[in-house]
Amino acid sequence: MSDLEIVRSISELRAAITGWRRDGQTVALVPTMGALHDAHMALMHEARSRADRVVATIFVNPTQFAADEDLDSYPRHEAADIEKLQTDGVDLLFAPEASEVYPDGFATTITVTGVSEGLCGDHRPGHFAGVATVVTKLLLQALPDIALFGEKDYQQLQVIHRLSRDLNIPVEILGVPTVREPDGLAMSSRNLHLSKAERDVAPQMYRTLMDVAARLRNGIGSEAACAAGRVQLAENGFSPVEYLEVRDAETLAQPLSGHSRRVLSAAWLGETRLIDSIPLP
Ligand code: PAJ
Repeated sequence: MSDLEIVRSISELRAAITGWRRDGQTVALVPTMGALHDAHMALMHEARSRADRVVATIFVNPTQFAADEDLDSYPRHEAADIEKLQTDGVDLLFAPEASEVYPDGFATTITVTGVSEGLCGDHRPGHFAGVATVVTKLLLQALPDIALFGEKDYQQLQVIHRLSRDLNIPVEILGVPTVREPDGLAMSSRNLHLSKAERDVAPQMYRTLMDVAARLRNGIGSEAACAAGRVQLAENGFSPVEYLEVRDAETLAQPLSGHSRRVLSAAWLGETRLIDSIPLP
C-alpha cells in the first residue's frame, strides 16, 4: 500500500514531478485509459523497477475514438483503478477532465505519417492522430525520464517511438511485451465486452498468429501463410477479419530482408474488435 496522490490538473502534475526531479529522483510514466487489468499493472511493475517514482495517467481520450466507435461504452472504473494503483505502490495518478486536456480553442493535431498508415490506420481513420496528440501532450506535461507502453498495441507503440524521435522529446520510450490470459488471449479492457461464447473463441486469434509463424518457419511464403491465417480466423467466427499481415517490425512497411518482422492482426468477434501481434524469429 502507498499514499497514492491523485491530481486532476497539469499544474499539480508538473509541481509533483518537478519536486521529485529536483531531489534527484527518476520518474516513469504509464499512460492508460483506465479499466486497469493485470497487463496495465505489469507496466506499472516494470516502471517501478526502472524509476524511483511511478506516475500513472487515466484519461479516456475522446480524440482517438471515431464518431461511430465505443467512446461512450468504454469501461470506466475509477474507484477500482485507484485501489489497484494504491495496492501496487504507484506514487501519483493524473486523471484529468477532458476540458483540462482539450480546453476551448484547442486546435493542434500531431500527425505521424508512414507508420500510422495501413493496418489499424486504414480501419480507424484519425485514431493514431488522436493517440499521437494525447501522448505528445502527456509526455510534455510530465517530462518523465521514461514512459512505458505495451506491445499489445504494436502500431501505437511504433507511432510513439516515431513521434518522440521526430519531436526530440527527451523521454526514453520502452515497449513491454504483451501480457496474456492463461489461454493466450491478449489482455484488453475490451475483453469485458465479450459474451461467454465469444470469450471461448477469442484465444483463437493468438493461436492463428502462432500457426502463421509456424507456417513461415516451415518455408511457406508470407502471402500464403497470411491468407491461410485469415481463413482460419473466419472459420472460427471472426467477422470481419480486418487484416492479418507480416510487416517490418519497426516501420510496419512491407518487410525487408534482414530486418526483424512481426505478424499482426485485427478482427471482430460480434461487437468487439480484437487486435494482437507476435514477433517472428
Ligand atoms: P490502454 O488501452 O488503456 O492501454 C494502456 C497501456 O497498456 C498501453 O501502452 C497498452 O499497449 C498497454 N496494454 C494494454 N493491454 C496490454 C497487454 N495485454 N499487454 C501489454 N500491454 C498492454 O493504449 C491506450 O490505453 C491509449 O491509446 C493511450 C496510450 C493511453 C493513449 O490514450
